[in-house]
Amino acid sequence: MNNKIITIDGPSASGKGTIAKKIADILGFNYLDSGVLYRILAYIYSSQPDFSHDINTENIQQCQQILIDKFNHSKILFENNNIFLENINITSFIRSETIGTLASILAANQNIRIQLLDWQRKYALAQGLEGLVTDGRDMGTVVFPNAKCKIFLIADVNKRAQRRYEQIISQTKNQDVKLNDILLNLKQRDERDINRSSSPLKPSNDAFILDNSNLTIEETVNIVLTYYKTV
Ligand code: DC
Repeated sequence: MNNKIITIDGPSASGKGTIAKKIADILGFNYLDSGVLYRILAYIYSSQPDFSHDINTENIQQCQQILIDKFNHSKILFENNNIFLENINITSFIRSETIGTLASILAANQNIRIQLLDWQRKYALAQGLEGLVTDGRDMGTVVFPNAKCKIFLIADVNKRAQRRYEQIISQTKNQDVKLNDILLNLKQRDERDINRSSSPLKPSNDAFILDNSNLTIEETVNIVLTYYKTV
């Protein structure tokens, strides 16, 4: 199975999801967006009226077990690029920048990561899986260290901010969004994801580091597919 797992890690808005989905479609593999799991946890957190809005490490430690139990007992369904939690379509809600930031804060908690590690490995072992393309921050370093094909996708932070800005404008028609706010948010999220002690964002020693700042989606997909055939 390890030669049928492609991990694509990298910072926020580096294009991981778009590239991973396309590659999964071309190869007929399943696709797992691991960031969605952290976003679902953030959604569960934000929908608990008794959890503190002033979120910090101490608050998270107090509620981590309740949060993990709720996650483990929830019915989660991925269908046609939509995410259902207990039959409710939460896709647009969990894609917000607010949930992304909360997900990044929760993701620094080691117990939460251990629980999700189990979930992700079980998903990969599910029967009938042809192969897996998965994206995140630690897929090549921690979750699937034996995968043969590991990509670390990077891009200039200004380009990433511009891409995220255009995506938000086209998906939400929210004209109030400011490029500078997005840039600042991306920088803060990168810093948090890189500097946490538990499974930080970093390339695995055997990863292929690909800078797609000046590449189109198709060019990036082709480079990854060509690399996959060589490993
Ligand atoms: O990829 P994303 O933006 O949907 O991820 C949201 C947050 O979840 C990200 O800022 C950090 C966390 N995350 C993580 O820690 N490990 C992963 N494998 C995927 C996401």
